[in-house]
Amino acid sequence: MRVGVFDSGVGGLSVVKSLLEHKLFEEIIYFGDTARVPYGVKDKNTIIRYSLEALEFFKNFEIDLLITACNTVSAYALDEMREHSDCDVIGVVDPGVLALKNAIPSTEANILILGTKATVKSRAYEKKLHELGYKNLSAIATSLLVPIVEEGLYEGEVLQSTLRHYFRDLDKTPDAIILGCTHFPLVARAIDNYFEGKSSLIHSGEAIVEYLESHYDFTKRFEDTSLKFFASENPEGLRRVAKEWLSL
Ligand code: DGL
Repeated sequence: MRVGVFDSGVGGLSVVKSLLEHKLFEEIIYFGDTARVPYGVKDKNTIIRYSLEALEFFKNFEIDLLITACNTVSAYALDEMREHSDCDVIGVVDPGVLALKNAIPSTEANILILGTKATVKSRAYEKKLHELGYKNLSAIATSLLVPIVEEGLYEGEVLQSTLRHYFRDLDKTPDAIILGCTHFPLVARAIDNYFEGKSSLIHSGEAIVEYLESHYDFTKRFEDTSLKFFASENPEGLRRVAKEWLSL
């Protein structure tokens, strides 16, 4: 199966990492819209327009499935993308909700959702979690983590003070934290350390693997996935991050 993976920048590589670990696909075509990242501070119409343009890009490759490895796009543009696509388009919000439900079945649990401004504003996670009965939900737009990740600052003072800034008003340690932006797994270790390992972290990459395995047939696994990386700007930069993150 040839799958397309789309994100606004390098964050979707955290999803590719999980897809590779589980050897799900024969070929992965990745597109990061690095010229226009971040999406998470843009409005709905712009996010939809950029996402439909990305969809056009993938039409050159005859993909069998498209994964929008971006929570912001998943929160705003999935319906429009599906309407204009010849193949299935899967977002990361539903898989994230499912993964949370599997990891933390108690609806009394204290769940913290982290995302971009746009994702938090959409309340995409809260709406679905409320439907499942979860009551104790809070969300923080941790948008600064996106440029921090794009800059490769996976540790150090800038990251630490950003975490302190965003989490300063939390009065208790969450039982689970949804990393509702695919850039955030790249700083998951720092987030985990901040909460002293006491919160379960829900990661879009692992969530989508769980989702794919329960919705599609993956009897065949692929040892050597063919990978192609494209970006709307500085593709070498994206390939460099891919090499580092995916140990290529
Ligand atoms: N990685 C994207 C997400 O999952 C968004 C980052 C951005 O472009 O703001 O929401």
